[in-house]
Amino acid sequence: MASVSEDTVREIKFRNSIEDVVAPYVALRKAGSNLVGLCPFHSEKTPSFTVFPKDGSFYCFGCGAGGDVIAFVRRAENLDYPSALAYLAKRAGIPLVQDDRDRESSLRRQRILSMNREAARFFHQSLLDPQKGAPGMAYLRDRRGLPLSLIRHFGLGFAPDDFGLLTDHLSRLGYRDYEMADAFLSGVSKKNGRHYDYFRNRVIFPIISPSGEVLAFGGRVMDDALPKYLNTSDTPVFKKSRTLFALNYAKKHCAEQIILCEGYMDVIALHGAGFQNAVATLGTAITSEHARLMKRYTKSVVISYDSDEAGQRAADKAFRQLGEVGLEARVLRMNGAKDPDEYIRAFGSDRFASLLNTASSEFDFRFGNILGKYDIGATEGRLKALDETVALLSTVDSETRREVYIGIAAEKLSLSPESMRRDVERRIRRGERARARENTEKLIAASQGIGDRVNTDFIKNPPAAAAEEKLLGILLLHPEYIGESEKAGKKPAPEEFFSEFGRKIYTRMLDFGGGYFDISALGETLSVEEVDRITSLKRSREMLADNRIELFWELFDRMREAMRKDSLTTEEIIRRKREGRK
Ligand code: GTP
Ligand code: MN
Repeated sequence: MASVSEDTVREIKFRNSIEDVVAPYVALRKAGSNLVGLCPFHSEKTPSFTVFPKDGSFYCFGCGAGGDVIAFVRRAENLDYPSALAYLAKRAGIPLVQDDRDRESSLRRQRILSMNREAARFFHQSLLDPQKGAPGMAYLRDRRGLPLSLIRHFGLGFAPDDFGLLTDHLSRLGYRDYEMADAFLSGVSKKNGRHYDYFRNRVIFPIISPSGEVLAFGGRVMDDALPKYLNTSDTPVFKKSRTLFALNYAKKHCAEQIILCEGYMDVIALHGAGFQNAVATLGTAITSEHARLMKRYTKSVVISYDSDEAGQRAADKAFRQLGEVGLEARVLRMNGAKDPDEYIRAFGSDRFASLLNTASSEFDFRFGNILGKYDIGATEGRLKALDETVALLSTVDSETRREVYIGIAAEKLSLSPESMRRDVERRIRRGERARARENTEKLIAASQGIGDRVNTDFIKNPPAAAAEEKLLGILLLHPEYIGESEKAGKKPAPEEFFSEFGRKIYTRMLDFGGGYFDISALGETLSVEEVDRITSLKRSREMLADNRIELFWELFDRMREAMRKDSLTTEEIIRRKREGRK
């Protein structure tokens, strides 16, 4: 399983300092010998995310996420362990020797990418072919008004109305049927098992990665047939939920601002009109991965969705996702056009530029929605609107901003700013109290092991589990205690541990003979949640003065004692869980 040697892992960690790797995601400031900032893994207003340069780890005291630099990358980039290692190796310029399985999957990716490139070339050539491409050209150039230069710039294409042109073409280039099916370029007929072109009689939009690889395609019908768009499904090289159309071009123009659209055509029209910072999600709602991706390239986002109701609902979600990763966001309000493409065609690029300048803040957007929802001329409507407005204002963090917004809202709803401010402040305090209560409840639940998904054995015997967690914490801080215990004739056997979780950690530690050991040694076999827990066990011990080996032995005895005394029946466990939930 282990494809990368322990030495290489150590080298990778050594050359990727935790501070440097974390820095692009979190604005860190010094706090003693550590660094703190706002946690990228949960939403918070005061920093509880802490980086410990001394041992190259991080831990969030708010949400419990923690681990080493590899664990950080796993979470932040949503990667599995081997991919996170590969990512960091690349970052540090360390060549990785691949094992057979890695090599096979990377070969498969390479084949799909080169096949996609050939397909893109084929579609583009077909479009430019005066005979074959005529219907596509009539649509893109004549109906949609795209100049040839823009068609070339985006490498747009045409898939002729034929079942086998691309499949045959790719076969001639040496690609196998199953590879084309892998890449979603051809489908397999249920009737006769024959392969046929997936995209037919459609204009084609290639989707290209920031590093210039052809990842996938979108294909649009040229009339009102359904489905309007056909997109490549997820393949080994393409994940719709983390891809943005035209980011390959936008990345050079978006340091200040990205324009986020819904559709291919919007983006193409915008680039054509000089707004080269436009990108689009691919027909899906914006995901947290999209938000994190944009965060890497820009400071702020202008949401330019369709002006219909669906578009406005999607804007609501976009504000939330973008806010979560700390991106500033505003939204366009278009009148007289359905989407940016139509707007530019109807009113021109200057008008769109001024539209950009007047994009609404999240408050304006949400307050506008509230005003649109109620009849504020009637008492009932006005009260409802007031209530929602106060709730909205209580979510605005910046005090100056809140003041300005209160002024605007109070005037609109004919209320004195003073009383509105009082209501808002009361609501903020109430929210803080509720949050504090919730945190306490969570802590209590955690200390009783209720709903513990990492250590599912906890509930069966909390005293034994609690002792075990403490002794594991000590052991993680002092792996050398294993060897010393052995000398003293007190070395525990794995099966003596209370929980599955404890046994797993201890067994892995034994594999390392009590010598060099850190979380990344475990990383491959553990989930990110398990790594979080281990980090928290270690960190919570570290803050205590007494971590002597004698205490380790004592806790071990305490755990064994609790296991003897209190092995619960299943009914008892269920009863406790019920009580805990109340
Ligand atoms: P035009 O009608 O060509 O202007 O399309 P548009 O770019 O304005 O797209 P629209 O607003 O209709 O949809 C936005 C995006 O959603 C498109 O660019 C596609 O990525 C995606 N989409 C739209 N219709 C479909 C569909 O039927 N199937 C799939 N899979 N995606 C779609
Ligand atoms: Mn459109």
